[in-house]
Amino acid sequence: MSARAVRVHAPAKINLRLGVGPAREDGFHPLGTVYLALDWRDAVTVRAADHWSLEVTTDVPERVDLAGVPAADDLADNLAVRAARLLAAHVGVDQPLAIHIDKAIPVAGGLAGGSADAAAALVAADRLWGTGLGRAELLELAGRLGSDVPFALLGGAALGEGRGEVVTPLPVGATWWWVVLPDPDGLSTPAVYAAYDRLLGEGYFSPAGTAVPAGLAAALAAGDPAALAPYLVNDLTIPAASLRPELADRLAAGAAAGVLAPLLSGSGPTCLFLCGSAQHADAVVRVLADRGLDGALVCSGPTPGALDAVEELA
Ligand code: C5P
Repeated sequence: MSARAVRVHAPAKINLRLGVGPAREDGFHPLGTVYLALDWRDAVTVRAADHWSLEVTTDVPERVDLAGVPAADDLADNLAVRAARLLAAHVGVDQPLAIHIDKAIPVAGGLAGGSADAAAALVAADRLWGTGLGRAELLELAGRLGSDVPFALLGGAALGEGRGEVVTPLPVGATWWWVVLPDPDGLSTPAVYAAYDRLLGEGYFSPAGTAVPAGLAAALAAGDPAALAPYLVNDLTIPAASLRPELADRLAAGAAAGVLAPLLSGSGPTCLFLCGSAQHADAVVRVLADRGLDGALVCSGPTPGALDAVEELA
């Protein structure tokens, strides 16, 4: 072991396109998605210890409600702990860890904060224990932990296939500016997918589906927000709004505030608004506040993934 502790940062993610197909036999849904890593990053620090422990803190309580994080009293429910234990079992290491998560990503908002923590813990434990798994093996373990965990290893932007865990990096030609409207009440991902199944069965809506148009990757590489805007789509929007009707009103309020495109983040309830610049995003935050939608924040992406954000601490 070379370091006494290792700290790894991992990003929030959004889906520029979340195309969802009908459920597979295993209950998961096939996805055709394009991920983008946003510059809100959780930091996971691991140290060797004589028993497993977990501490969760935040410097941004206005954005992160720690009450929603599975923490010390239910250690095994926390995805970062499960990630480190999966690696330990996989490589035959018997070394408990003290894990500290410093959260910057809103909890249960459709921004994959738990997946980011799992990715960061995997990379941190791999470095601390000197197990030296390669990128391919870490991506495979990450996919076992959750559909969004492999992307948190990569960061940047990526095409996601399978149930989201098969990731292929995509070139990005610009920094993209977003207004992010978090929601203090999270939304359960399985509940939103169940609503998708129900509405699809009733013939209530036609999803865009899993084929990702080539023009999306081209717009992403070209760096032109106006060219990217028409490609933003999320097949979970109608299912999420069936559970939380106010989401449709929020997305419409953003559109009326002059954003390039409104978009639900993942399975919600966070709403995203693509803007043309940092100044445009600041102006949209003010307009939304004037119209009674407080708490909107500006965030940008892409940003690196856990594999590229490792620090050894003395
Ligand atoms: O993979 P992950 O643990 O993040 O998935 C959480 C839940 O979201 C699954 O249990 C499933 O209900 C739903 N899901 C799905 N299809 C996907 C990804 C997630 O149905 N592609």
